[in-house]
Amino acid sequence: MKITFYGQNSLAISVSGTNIIVDPFISGNPLSGDKVDINTLKADYILLTHAHQDHVLDVEAIAGITEATIVSNYEIAMYYQEKGFNVHPMNHGGSWKFDFGTVKYVNAIHTSTFADGSNGGAPGGFVIEGEHKNIYIAGDTALTMDMKLIPMRTKLDLAILPIGDNFTMGIDDAIIASNFVECDKVLGVHYDTFGYIEIDHDEAKRKFYDAGKDLMLLAIGESIEL
Ligand code: NI
Ligand code: MN
Repeated sequence: MKITFYGQNSLAISVSGTNIIVDPFISGNPLSGDKVDINTLKADYILLTHAHQDHVLDVEAIAGITEATIVSNYEIAMYYQEKGFNVHPMNHGGSWKFDFGTVKYVNAIHTSTFADGSNGGAPGGFVIEGEHKNIYIAGDTALTMDMKLIPMRTKLDLAILPIGDNFTMGIDDAIIASNFVECDKVLGVHYDTFGYIEIDHDEAKRKFYDAGKDLMLLAIGESIEL
């Protein structure tokens, strides 16, 4: 499983020959807009945690080119289905076995309204089990006790957690979250994009290190292999 970071919560995941894009907000991101051409991204599926613009801005452009299937909660799926896109609706607690692995839509504490005011349902995150590697994409969320449910079913190899504070968890809560999900290997996301969520990288990494954990902060376009 290969995971590439495109800023904010935008990720490309390559698993079993399938290309997945998560929460594409790339063209409008001041950190990634001039570094990544969204017209060249491959996508069989687009996974959306919630409807906020910093997670869905480039969905229609990428899905329009790739004809990818958009996977999200029911309201978000219907929003895009009405616009003519391919969708797979899910809801919280449900799993589906896709050709690349199993995806579960799990709880997040946040909000989820589209930029045009449409109802984006309730926000979530994803647990993906594929290629003998399991990952948790928390999405935008507060620290929540529900995270403790995840390791009861799934032994995680990587937790992708927001760390920018203000709109989501910050560093200290993300460390607790990594305890809750029982995964010490963390990819930090949702930081630095706007002034509200700028972080001190060295301090963030030191805090995780002091807690016996590994925090990875990737450059735009940088990848890790699991
Ligand atoms: Ni959000
Ligand atoms: Mn966000």
